[in-house]
Amino acid sequence: MKGIVLAAGKGTRLYPMTKPVCKPLLPVYDKPLIYYPIAILMQAGISDILVIVPPGETETFAALLGDGGQFGLRVSYAEQTVARGIADALLIGEEFVGDDQVCLVLGDNIFYAPTLGATLKKAAAQTSGATVFGYWVEDPRPFGVVEFDESGKAISIEEKPRYPKSNYIVPGLYFYDRQVMEIARGLKPSARGELEITDVNLEYLHREQLRVMPLERNFVWLDAGTADSLLAAGQTIKKIQDETGRYVGCLEELGLYEGWLEVGHVHQTGEQLGMTLYGKYLQCL
Ligand code: G1P
Repeated sequence: MKGIVLAAGKGTRLYPMTKPVCKPLLPVYDKPLIYYPIAILMQAGISDILVIVPPGETETFAALLGDGGQFGLRVSYAEQTVARGIADALLIGEEFVGDDQVCLVLGDNIFYAPTLGATLKKAAAQTSGATVFGYWVEDPRPFGVVEFDESGKAISIEEKPRYPKSNYIVPGLYFYDRQVMEIARGLKPSARGELEITDVNLEYLHREQLRVMPLERNFVWLDAGTADSLLAAGQTIKKIQDETGRYVGCLEELGLYEGWLEVGHVHQTGEQLGMTLYGKYLQCL
């Protein structure tokens, strides 16, 4: 399975911070925001990753992530020249995905749960249809909202509904089978002029192939799109790390865990970053 991180948003809700620096490169406590969605793909067992960046920003992202080798990954880049919506990421990645299945994650979504790896690997193991997640929130109106039955089969899905049919929102993490490119190619822009990911999911629903995995209440889901949510995300990550003694979104650790990196390699990176707690953490793995 291939992975795509859509990290091409301008981050206008974070101006002036995001005028010179793209949102996915801003810090969430002790790591750049983009580490967290990449960590999600890694925990799903995905090592071949396309990062979609804003126009002219490939070099900036490459300065951080390189070819992914330092994490045991293969990372490549593509630029989204026009903000055409989330589903456009699938079309940009069409050649990269080829005949494979794909997992798409938004560059500002952060997940944490002790059981996250098992949940993601279960989703990645599905060989047909689409899998999305359902996350309970108090006010679902600003999101994609999904209604589903006890077996996890989706009943309805709507983008930013005025009158939501459920309290379950669809976070920015989607697993698709090979039908997805044909579906994406057939999309028409919505009223806000975007190719909506909810329309992709709706087509799977019409085909009776949209599966919803509800995330238990102990799951943490954060999107870091505003100053408040960015700060809250940083505070939450710090709290989890302090309480558990384990890092969230530590790509070298995940590479090691997945068997894609040698421990000596991780210690070497740790030595290079030895002036930071992050570096010291790597040296202890
Ligand atoms: C997008 C999706 C929405 C999803 C949300 C998750 O919303 O369109 O379905 O629930 O991401 O972060 P947007 O960020 O475009 O408002």
